[in-house]
Amino acid sequence: MKNLLSLASMSGAEMRDIVNYSHHVKKHRKDTSMKVLEGQTWAMIFSKASTRTRVSFEVGLRELGANVIFLAAGDMQLGRGEPIKDTARVLGRLVHGAIIRTFAQSDVEDFAKYSCIPTINALTDEEHPCQILADIFTFEELRGPITGKKVTFVGDGDCNVPRSWIFAAAKLGFELNIAAPEGFQPPQSLIDQAMKDSVPGAAIRCTPNLQDAVRGVDMIYTDVWISMGKEEEAKHRLQSLQGYQINRQTVSLASPEALVMHCLPAYRGKEITDEIMEANAECIFREAENRLHVQKSILLRLAKD
Ligand code: CP
Ligand code: NVA
Repeated sequence: MKNLLSLASMSGAEMRDIVNYSHHVKKHRKDTSMKVLEGQTWAMIFSKASTRTRVSFEVGLRELGANVIFLAAGDMQLGRGEPIKDTARVLGRLVHGAIIRTFAQSDVEDFAKYSCIPTINALTDEEHPCQILADIFTFEELRGPITGKKVTFVGDGDCNVPRSWIFAAAKLGFELNIAAPEGFQPPQSLIDQAMKDSVPGAAIRCTPNLQDAVRGVDMIYTDVWISMGKEEEAKHRLQSLQGYQINRQTVSLASPEALVMHCLPAYRGKEITDEIMEANAECIFREAENRLHVQKSILLRLAKD
């Protein structure tokens, strides 16, 4: 694996390898023999806010021996219109790898192409691959293999997080329900694209019926209603999505063993109630910690190839 640009472009075997390897990486966090990035410098180019992704990547890179340069895109010439392909060709000659959080997926792909250095997608409008790999790792730590399980995403079903879930479900073989109102469901063409590479056990279903979607499932998952860059649509989104909340009633319909997960940040009283957030805090903050272990596992795999 040269880059991690999306779950759409990864094979199920690559996803499985990273998730499985993360158990080893987590267990051996203090093992100094993992400093395989010693002498390297990595750039983190962020056009959007971040707490978890930024800190977990910076800590992970340092634990693997690398130096890190954090670059807010707005402070770079990129923010004044320098093309991504020129930025990429400069950084490709100066640093050993790049982690990018931005809007257009094509920017991450162009950066990888023109820089010729390992490039990782730290969230775009289309995908959040590192998050979903960490979520799957967290589920499997607590409940065993996700293959054959039932997962329901509740909320804005057409943003980066559920889009990455779609490719994970297709390639790792689990059932994914997306409970979202009309206008917030992913396009059928995206589901068809994912299902072209599906393995047995994979199924993806979108429905506006929240109750049906959560009945008996093994995990209920949500994300913010207003993704970064969508702030101008706030009023419409709050109105349209208000029935799609993880609350006591939603949870009561799922399996008694169901995990409630959230990529964070959480907006209590919107996509999740404070009560359900706090009742599931151990799992949700474990997810946040696991970003570190899974991303180190990604960095180690990229270093190997
Ligand atoms: N979940 C996640 O990516 O969080 P940040 O936006 O804080 O990085
Ligand atoms: N869908 C959210 C994820 C935040 C981690 C966003 O893009 O803002």
